Amino acid sequence: MIAITGATGQLGQLVIEHLLKTVPADQIVAIVRHPAKAEALSQQGITVRQGDYTDPATLTTALQGVEKLLLISSSEVGQREAQHQNVINAAKAAGVKFIAYTSLLHADRSPLGLHVEHVATENALAASGIPYALLRNGWYTENYLASVPPALEHGVFIGAAGEGKIAAAPRADYAAAAARVIASEGHSGKVYELAGDNAWTLSELVAEVSRQSGKTVSYQNLSEADIAAALKSVGLPAGLADMLADSDAGAAKGGLFDDSHTLSQLIGRPTTPLSQSIKAIL
Ligand SMILES: NC(=O)c1ccc[n+]([C@@H]2O[C@H](COP(=O)([O-])OP(=O)(O)OC[C@H]3O[C@@H](n4cnc5c(N)ncnc54)[C@H](OP(=O)(O)O)[C@@H]3O)[C@@H](O)[C@H]2O)c1
Repeated sequence: MIAITGATGQLGQLVIEHLLKTVPADQIVAIVRHPAKAEALSQQGITVRQGDYTDPATLTTALQGVEKLLLISSSEVGQREAQHQNVINAAKAAGVKFIAYTSLLHADRSPLGLHVEHVATENALAASGIPYALLRNGWYTENYLASVPPALEHGVFIGAAGEGKIAAAPRADYAAAAARVIASEGHSGKVYELAGDNAWTLSELVAEVSRQSGKTVSYQNLSEADIAAALKSVGLPAGLADMLADSDAGAAKGGLFDDSHTLSQLIGRPTTPLSQSIKAIL
């Protein structure tokens, strides 16, 4: 049996879509925080089990009989080291034989503050003795797409990534890679640095938006403090705004760049180009 945590999340749902192409539904266990949200999964014949990263007993039960586990990192930034440790402990207790974990691109040398919890989880995996692979995911293209409509409205796209090259790819590309790794053999001990084939700066993203929409949008680069303040002023929670500002500042230092093409090699096709993602949002 193959289990996926975060199965009702955006990445998790896409992973399951890909998995179903090669794995029978009755071999897939979706571990979810709220089973009520997982009706579409059970209707496809997938086993849905409740498991909360903060509740070790639920995790141990949910992992019974599971051989391989895709641990999709929690969205609860700040809580994740303890939450992921709970999953790893439960996997050990349940006799799970392989874990793939969605980490962060170049986690061991990333300038993004987000790397801290991911490195802690990578270390916990190493200490567990369970064979594992690291799926060090780069940025989702979608992270920027929500800013496109307001940018078109105001004629300005703000950021703090400077001239940093960002090798993003849509969630669907990372999901295809995760499904491949969890459904096939030979990945134990591997560290996959996963990123889009073609990197771009935020100025280049904005130029593409202008080109496709026919509307002039300019890129305005702010300091980390100013972008954090701007995000808070439009209602983002302080912690999230600070995290996004820190990530943009990390991108300016090259923290979201990679040119290894490992993602396209894993999925057997080029990653989805930015122009295609922008076309879809427009
Ligand atoms: N590479 C990037 O650009 C990027 C961007 C954002 C996030 N991430 C990371 O990648 C992960 C997957 O991305 P995503 O877009 O799929 O995020 P998402 O849609 O927010 O999904 C997060 C998943 O984590 C689950 N979760 C959160 N807290 C939990 C808990 N206490 N117990 C059990 N499950 C819990 C959520 O459950 P519910 O369905 O019940 O909410 C959800 O299924 C994120 O969680 C985050 O760690 C990466």
